[in-house]
Amino acid sequence: MTRRDDIFETGEIFQDRKLVRVGHVPNLDRVVGRDSEIELMGSALAPAIRGGPPETTIIYGKTGTGKSLVTRCVTREARDRAAENGQRFTYAYVDCSDYGTEAQASRQMARELQANLGDAVGNQSIPRRGIGAADYRDVTWELLSEGDVDAFVVILDEIDKLDGDALLRSLSRARESGKAEAFVSAVCISNKIEYREQLSERVDSSLQDNEVVFDPYDATQLEAILTRRKDAFSEGVLEEGVISKTAALAAREHGDARKAIDMLYEAGRIAEKNQATQVTVDHVDAALKRAEINRFQKLVSGQTPHVKHILRALALLTEKADCQRFRTAEVYDTYQQVAEHAGASPLSYDRVQRLLKEQAFLGVTESEHTGGGHGEGSYRVHRLLRSPEIVSEGLNGA
Ligand SMILES: Nc1ncnc2c1ncn2[C@@H]1O[C@H](COP(=O)(O)OP(=O)(O)O)[C@@H](O)[C@H]1O
Ligand SMILES: [Mg+2]
Repeated sequence: MTRRDDIFETGEIFQDRKLVRVGHVPNLDRVVGRDSEIELMGSALAPAIRGGPPETTIIYGKTGTGKSLVTRCVTREARDRAAENGQRFTYAYVDCSDYGTEAQASRQMARELQANLGDAVGNQSIPRRGIGAADYRDVTWELLSEGDVDAFVVILDEIDKLDGDALLRSLSRARESGKAEAFVSAVCISNKIEYREQLSERVDSSLQDNEVVFDPYDATQLEAILTRRKDAFSEGVLEEGVISKTAALAAREHGDARKAIDMLYEAGRIAEKNQATQVTVDHVDAALKRAEINRFQKLVSGQTPHVKHILRALALLTEKADCQRFRTAEVYDTYQQVAEHAGASPLSYDRVQRLLKEQAFLGVTESEHTGGGHGEGSYRVHRLLRSPEIVSEGLNGA
């Protein structure tokens, strides 16, 4: 039994959890494996450090490849270096996945600028509603002149979520249109490489000075990233090989630093829950499995109970058989049993066939036509794209 004064006891696994939590923004010197990207961004911002116009940069890359982090770190560094030269360089970070309309993004730009200028400008509140996107931009230009800003960079993160082009256009013309005296430019970030063509149609060429693609991290880079966070754990708690195993798995699965850090954190939590004194490679395996189960649960959450019965039937078949692919009729037989066992009356064969097609479309299963042997005609076979263990456990919690 847990004693009352023990409920907040967490054991000795972690000594500084925040190092392995999402949202932690390390200093530039803790950012590893992105030297050429950092250099490119640095040279785009370099003119502003000496009183000139910063260049615009567009960044593409999958999630967890360091785009937001590198941009924030380099911009922060540039601001400090400019200040040393007596230049007032400032920036506004706008995450368009949180502020997706032109008005919201423009307002957030103004608010960030105001916060970053601090005492250099007044702190009158920027109205939440009642004024339009263009008005928020005017507030921004006023803040720039009130704060005596020399150069201003707006970071538009996840720009593919932004619903229009007016903000981007106004940034590229702020100076020539006489609205701002400061040099104004943008860093546009997208998680979608496919977005490239769309964006180049949306913005004029003045915004396309530099383009960088952030590649997924390889195992060596992930290992370096994780090693810098190992102070999250108490001394001696990480078993030999835990970090390299996490890095190798993460590189194979996705090359996403955020997910790699999450996996290491999850391994630590599992060790903690099991009241282990060390985090072992088995805990890493368990963490990977946990992550797969979570992903699978997300994929099937919101599906009807019958879809879940169908998937459970496929999992049961896969567990029992040597093969992985099953005919619709086989799936239907097992599905009927699963549904009845759950106290539901089974759907018709045709409905199940259609639901199976839908699951294939959603990437939960795979199905294909196979020509039977002599005189058998062709038929459809289905298989799960994940191990039956992941599917069963995921369905139990879904
Ligand atoms: N090169 C790196 N060095 C150290 N930590 C990193 C690095 N790249 C990513 N991370 C970690 O992973 C997290 C996700 O990176 P982020 O920049 O948000 O990715 P993206 O914006 O490309 O999706 C960061 O918050 C940081 O903790
Ligand atoms: Mg990001």
